[in-house]
Amino acid sequence: MSQYSLSLLGDGSELELTVSGNIDLLTTMQEAGLSVRSSCRNSVCRLCKCRLVEGEISYQGRPPCGLLDRHIAEGYILPCIAFARSDLILDNLSLNKSI
Ligand code: FES
Repeated sequence: MSQYSLSLLGDGSELELTVSGNIDLLTTMQEAGLSVRSSCRNSVCRLCKCRLVEGEISYQGRPPCGLLDRHIAEGYILPCIAFARSDLILDNLSLNKSI
């Protein structure tokens, strides 16, 4: 499966990870040691919501149930069910501590 870069913006800092196209973004970030807020891991609670600044993701046919139309219009995604399909830049992550 393809590998992509994942840049995370926050608090004036930037962190870059490598992501695999077959592992969801939340799992990738948590396995890298980031304390991303999450609960359901199933697109419902919205705790993991962040903004896709650049790039393409796939939900692999699953609807992002926790997102309202206005969230989607503003570029928000749910990384718990999202898979990279290009290099990505994410912002507005809900972290339990700053990155
Ligand atoms: S962890 Fe609940 S929507 Fe992502």
